[in-house]
Amino acid sequence: MSKDIILTGDRPTGNLHIGHYVGSLRRRVELQNSGKYESFIMIADAQALTDNADNPQKVHENVLQVALDYLAVGIDPAKSTIFIQSEIAELTELTFYYMNLVTVARLQRNPTVKTEIAQKERFRDGTPVGFFTYPISQAADITAFNATIVPVGEDQLPMIEQTQEIVHKFNSLYGETLTMPKASVPELSAAGRLPGIDGNSKMGKSLNNAIYLNDSADEIAAKIKTMFTDPTHLRVEDPGHTENNPVFIYLSVFAKPEHFAEFLPEYKNYGELAAHYERGGLGDVKVKKFLNDVLQSTLAPIRARREEFAKDPAAVMEMLRAGTARARAVAAATTARVKKAMGLNYFE
Ligand code: TRP
Repeated sequence: MSKDIILTGDRPTGNLHIGHYVGSLRRRVELQNSGKYESFIMIADAQALTDNADNPQKVHENVLQVALDYLAVGIDPAKSTIFIQSEIAELTELTFYYMNLVTVARLQRNPTVKTEIAQKERFRDGTPVGFFTYPISQAADITAFNATIVPVGEDQLPMIEQTQEIVHKFNSLYGETLTMPKASVPELSAAGRLPGIDGNSKMGKSLNNAIYLNDSADEIAAKIKTMFTDPTHLRVEDPGHTENNPVFIYLSVFAKPEHFAEFLPEYKNYGELAAHYERGGLGDVKVKKFLNDVLQSTLAPIRARREEFAKDPAAVMEMLRAGTARARAVAAATTARVKKAMGLNYFE
């Protein structure tokens, strides 16, 4: 049996943060190291331009930053193919053909695109066609590599659904050509999306509430100090709430029994700590100090690896060049199949 093929990607619009880490990066590394899959990891710079057309410099600069974040968390170019989207012209070509298979009404129904358009101040005077159609380009990304599994967060499910519809439509019109993908979402929904340090359900650059993989130890400590907790937990003796409390959500995701043994041996695990907080008698300062210990010990090795790779940006670009060449060959083969299926193979 042939291996399952994984395709995932990120828009290079900023450094990756611990929300990306628990939501997708950590899992990609596990899948990669299981040896059971062939992984393609795409830096989606062309997609990033669909809502940053006025700021190409930002996209350009963040390609290297995202590549460094990937390497820092353990994505290994010897095991996974890391590549740059815009360097593969076939992805644009496939997008153009797939556009014939999707109606305007169908795109307008895509809930993620709908929410994004509503939230974006910059689209007040109208939505660029490129942004509106990015789900189609995402179908090109996925099918070009014959991906069978697309590990994504819940917000990306509508994109996979649209991709499945395109695959179905293409194959029924032109014959069995494209591979049907399926989404794979993290089981633990708490790990699916980490709230911001301010308690906002989404962590992000524009919200200024994220802890980044390249934050210094001091930056991490300062951010944890300002973190939102339980506003009703006024005195240490008061019973506290761990639900919707970002400090506890982070601990539930990051704190392992080893961390308790090393930094807070009075408790064996998260359950014991949370129970004490809910009973009352456990102060926020102590819990935050523990969270700081946990996050510092989790992020220090990632930061150290990042600094190591950052010393030689030319080597990182060379790694991307090699990955992109490998990816391009796969996308070109798919595109040739697609064109042939549609009868666009005049000179063969
Ligand atoms: N839309 C994804 C994001 O916002 C990035 C992306 C582009 C992607 N193409 C993809 C993800 C294909 C999965 C599959 O991060």
